[in-house]
Amino acid sequence: PAGTYRREDGVLVVGGLALTELAESTPTFVWDTADFAARARRWAEAMNEAFDGRAHVHYAAKAFLCARAVHLANDAGLGIDTASAGELECALRAGATPELVGLHGNNKLDAEIDRAITAGIGRIIVDSLDEIDVLEERARACGLSDVPVMVRVTSGVHAGGHEFIATAHEDQKFGLSLSGAAAQAARRVEASDVLRLIGLHSHIGSQIFAIEGFAEAASRLLELVADLAEEGITIDELDLGGGLGIAYTGADPCPPHPREVAAALRASLEESAAMRGIALPRVSIEPGRSIAGPSQIMLYTIGTIKDQPVDEGQVRTYVSIDGGMSDNIRPALYGAAYTATLANRASAAPLRRCRVVGRHCESGDIVIHDVCLPADIRRGDLLAVPAVGAYGHAMASNYNMLTRPGVIAVADGEAETVIARETVDDVLRRDRDLVASADKTA
Ligand code: LLP
Repeated sequence: PAGTYRREDGVLVVGGLALTELAESTPTFVWDTADFAARARRWAEAMNEAFDGRAHVHYAAKAFLCARAVHLANDAGLGIDTASAGELECALRAGATPELVGLHGNNKLDAEIDRAITAGIGRIIVDSLDEIDVLEERARACGLSDVPVMVRVTSGVHAGGHEFIATAHEDQKFGLSLSGAAAQAARRVEASDVLRLIGLHSHIGSQIFAIEGFAEAASRLLELVADLAEEGITIDELDLGGGLGIAYTGADPCPPHPREVAAALRASLEESAAMRGIALPRVSIEPGRSIAGPSQIMLYTIGTIKDQPVDEGQVRTYVSIDGGMSDNIRPALYGAAYTATLANRASAAPLRRCRVVGRHCESGDIVIHDVCLPADIRRGDLLAVPAVGAYGHAMASNYNMLTRPGVIAVADGEAETVIARETVDDVLRRDRDLVASADKTA
């Protein structure tokens, strides 16, 4: 997080708090809430500046969600984008403004739809023609006649990293194809007496640094907007999804500032709209990673350390930490790269190439493939892994019946648990046989 620094004695300070204060709580996510809030505000300000106060920014809850995140996003003027009953319920119970909540998903369940539409959420993003029928049926069953709907369009643009690719075909599960089903979906929603068409949606990928991908997708969507306009169907809003990347290690580029992204979007959208002779619709986005990602670091305690022989008489130092793939699946799942630093002391020792591994029964349980750490690291040292705030806690599991780490918020030098660390009892409580036998002996 911004404002993280190393004290003279080498102790890392996040949100004004020395990480040594959290030594008893590892492994834990350490969340700088001011950093999260600042990133959320930056998006809201940038988009509203570029789009004359007409933009919507929805925080993509899948990146990291808890009541506090909802409050912070809300305070920054952001809506909440959800993709399941759990995310939706968390957002609503935490007090998100329903009109600023969206629901995504390629296979929404009836109960999710019912909860969403009766709560009066601002947008249901439909992902198939089938779903339009389901939505109509649920709207009628709930006695509602004005359910706001967006149509998710696959633009053929896919992005991630520095590059984006633009194709005409779509062979993946999300969205409705620009060349056919999307227009059909828009017509059907428009014709419905219980649904209200509010816009088109597109999400081109994640961990993107090339702004051009968003512009290309937007331009393609505007083509559809123009075609629909000829049929008398007005599209008021374009949602361009999430996807802006963050730097995980020094090898990653520096992501563009939201202001730069917003200005580039405005310029290219305006040009495309003018070219097609249509008015610029309202624009919205759904950033997740770029808000939550940098705001959290993972704090581990180092356990066993050993050298394993590799080729040509070389050795590799394996550093085990008290967590692993259950709190950060991204390296195993996506080959994602992270870095790490000693958090509890200074060291003048030379650096040694290390591999940071978890404590799961699986050799692929690697948190960091290659990182230089001081050669004198030892059991009991604290290790900080930055940029775990997005898709870290959110994708944590109980593999090997490990307990999922908690999230400790740090602000102004104070620590506060916002998500409790799981206990073994929490994990075992779901096993009805164990609960029954415990009840019997009690
Ligand atoms: N909107 C929609 C419709 C999305 O599907 C996503 C992410 C977002 C917004 C937020 O995207 P972001 O700004 O966070 O890139 N688990 C993967 C990332 C999956 C992203 C899925 N959709 C990872 O850990 O990299």
